[in-house]
Amino acid sequence: MTVSLEQLSRCHFAVDLGAARTRVFVKGAGLVVDQPSVAAVNTRTGALIAVGDFAEQMTGRTPQYIRVVRPVSGGTVVDIEMAQRMLRHLIGDRMRRALRRKPRLRAAACTPHEADPLARRATIETLVGLGARRVELVDTLIAAAVGCGLPVERPEATMVMVCGAAATQVAVLSLGSIVTAERIPVGGEAVDRAIVQHLRHEHELMLPSQSVRPLQIALSDNGLTPQGPVSTEIHGRDVATGLARSVRVDTAAMRDAIHTPLLAVLDGIGKVLRDCPPDLVADLVDRGIMMVGGTALLPGLDKMLQEAIGIPVHIAERPDICAVQGLGAMLEGRIAPLVLAPLAA
Ligand SMILES: Nc1ncnc2c1ncn2[C@@H]1O[C@H](COP(=O)(O)OP(=O)(O)OP(=O)(O)O)[C@@H](O)[C@H]1O
Ligand SMILES: [Mg+2]
Repeated sequence: MTVSLEQLSRCHFAVDLGAARTRVFVKGAGLVVDQPSVAAVNTRTGALIAVGDFAEQMTGRTPQYIRVVRPVSGGTVVDIEMAQRMLRHLIGDRMRRALRRKPRLRAAACTPHEADPLARRATIETLVGLGARRVELVDTLIAAAVGCGLPVERPEATMVMVCGAAATQVAVLSLGSIVTAERIPVGGEAVDRAIVQHLRHEHELMLPSQSVRPLQIALSDNGLTPQGPVSTEIHGRDVATGLARSVRVDTAAMRDAIHTPLLAVLDGIGKVLRDCPPDLVADLVDRGIMMVGGTALLPGLDKMLQEAIGIPVHIAERPDICAVQGLGAMLEGRIAPLVLAPLAA
């Protein structure tokens, strides 16, 4: 860990700015924000109209003068000013005033594994704009592993897989550090895109922007597993005529479409395991992989991975909020520090 637990325990709040959702943890108050990373702007006046859930509901339903924007993309803040405005509104006046009263406001944030310096800078600047005098960055993989209660500080392997919206990150950890890790730019968004493309190519059907994930869940209770209905009815718009139409789609073909982007994830897991020392791989066969992140909820993903790699796959209790909970645990000093001090002679 590059940041010490001591430095983190001096932070007042922690932020996880994800491509899909923004989460904020305030020391002493807990998780105060868990909302979509979306803002709606009036393009005539530049004023912010809505943020979070309400702004997301507006997606695809706005008149011309309202634009719905996502200030975080691909796991990095792409529009710092908008991200600051969105965060300010999500946190709310009361909590912001309470935070501003702190003499030297310190913040922690998680960043994707091996985020480039520009991406790290963007996260720091976003939080500095919110009044933080100092910002500590923590690798999402470590925050998530701590958040789901993995014993990361022990001399044995633990494997964590963060399945986010923009990317999937996998790591083997031991003694509080990352041994090998990989970031695969395929996440929940890629799965959604695969469904949209499948329906467009095979059925010439366009879906309303909000319906992809409900569809993904409705497809069958079992998602990627073969049980469940053989076909399902989907409403959308005909690509050629532009008129409303509904089709019956074969769920097996849809599952195949979802499988395609996930092959890259399987490759990434294989690479992490190949790069890992054999002793640690042996630990993993018993212990298995812990899946966190919103996409870990994709029904059947755990079973599919387990069959493909032959290692048990578990889903964390609240996979979507593990990273920010991990940051919170570090802020509140609930993590036993890893002492690797030199032995006295
Ligand atoms: N029940 C569910 N079934 C399938 N997918 C789901 C479910 N719930 C959430 N997701 C997916 O999880 C993703 C959001 O996960 P998460 O909140 O971890 O993303 P994020 O932290 O914003 O993204 P990132 O870490 O990549 O920046 C979305 O792509 C969403 O489609
Ligand atoms: Mg995330």
